[in-house]
Amino acid sequence: MLNHDTDPGSRTPGTRTADGGTRVGRASDGGTPGQDSPGTEDLRELIATELIAARARTAALTDCVEEPDLTAQHSPLMSPLVWDLAHIGNQEELWLLRNVGGRDPMHPEIDPLYDAFEHPRAERPSLPLLPPHEARAYAHEVRGRVLDLLASSPLEGPPLLTDGFAFGMVAQHEQQHDETMLITHQLRQGPVALTAPAPPPAPADAAALPAEVLIPGGPFRMGTDTELWALDNERPSHELELADFLLDTTPVSNAAYQRFIADGGYQEPRWWTPEGWEHRTRAGLVAPLFWSREGGQWLRRRFGAVEPVPGDEPVLHVSWYEADAYARWAGRRLPTEAEWEKAARYDPVSGRSRRYPWGDQAPGPEHANLGQRHLRPAPVGSYPAGASPYGVRQLMGDVWEWTASDFRPYPGFRAWPYKEYSEVFFGPEYKVLRGGCFAVAPVACRGTFRNWDYPVRRQIFAGFRTARDPERR
Ligand SMILES: [Fe+2]
Repeated sequence: MLNHDTDPGSRTPGTRTADGGTRVGRASDGGTPGQDSPGTEDLRELIATELIAARARTAALTDCVEEPDLTAQHSPLMSPLVWDLAHIGNQEELWLLRNVGGRDPMHPEIDPLYDAFEHPRAERPSLPLLPPHEARAYAHEVRGRVLDLLASSPLEGPPLLTDGFAFGMVAQHEQQHDETMLITHQLRQGPVALTAPAPPPAPADAAALPAEVLIPGGPFRMGTDTELWALDNERPSHELELADFLLDTTPVSNAAYQRFIADGGYQEPRWWTPEGWEHRTRAGLVAPLFWSREGGQWLRRRFGAVEPVPGDEPVLHVSWYEADAYARWAGRRLPTEAEWEKAARYDPVSGRSRRYPWGDQAPGPEHANLGQRHLRPAPVGSYPAGASPYGVRQLMGDVWEWTASDFRPYPGFRAWPYKEYSEVFFGPEYKVLRGGCFAVAPVACRGTFRNWDYPVRRQIFAGFRTARDPERR
């Protein structure tokens, strides 16, 4: 749930262009703060680039279908696409023009329509929403004024302005809604509207990778104080002591998941938590969402096209309950959120926590499958250049990874810039997902980024990997 959209549906986290990566961090956590901070002009240029990239993606996702597809509700879990479009503009107006710029509301009468807390997704189609051409014009007008504001803004002073935080938050917010809109496209029935090249095949060494790697125990710094546009729930950094654990080198593949199905995993209550089994039974789950069985093989529907399930891709569209049951069937468990972050960030040479598994360098196409460059995960074992120091692959991009952990505040958490961003969601109701997926833009993807959702949720682009404790002698 990442876009301030409180619905019992899913919010979605953010994303960014494939070539830029977020360049807005200082040093690694645990390093010397204050290094490598971008200058004001560089920051202004970066913000403009991020805002423009997000809008290009929003346009691509809404220009590819006709008007009836924009106003229709394709699933009660999702808003009509035209709601997201105007909501993006409305939030941008609220945070940047009104809160930062001190401007008067442009159209105060529409504010309640686009307040995610006021109307659950299921009732949004019945609201008097702006029609597509008016929603586009509104978002366009807001954007023009925001770029003018940016040109004259000192990007320092009040906390919302410091380091361009509010601008960065708005760019992430739009990309997060773009991911949400991509989920709507996946749920939509009808002819194919989106296309993208397939990711490259797995590298030659993928088949020879060890199944798991040991992450030695010891102290580790989780969270961040140095990432300029990190959200409140990623802060502050704090030291933890973790025991040794073993983690899957890659996400769990469709082929492995099919073995769980074939072994009767969905029929065997002992693999499931009581809540998970109850849900499995009530919802009649037998396979990941969008899968069907035909002629002895598994097929899947992906953005309107039906195709055989590729065995070598990470499994996608499974709930936390299914991920947890698979892990138990495999004699393993889901990693905790802290274990996941240590595997993704800890550099055993320097003892510091880095921004990404591969280091502090912004994500490029060689590191991770991000930014909707492809409309599917890459085969397991891909992206050797994106591996962590311990050799764990695909921690960033491809599929969101369910963790064992509930969504909780870090010690010293302070709600910012408002309680509804994270604080109202803390508690046992939500499970944390990490790492981003192919639909996440780099601006909203980093080693500290936290996503959360209900354990029943399946339409999000989520898979998982498993962990275990070392055997005791
Ligand atoms: Fe939102």
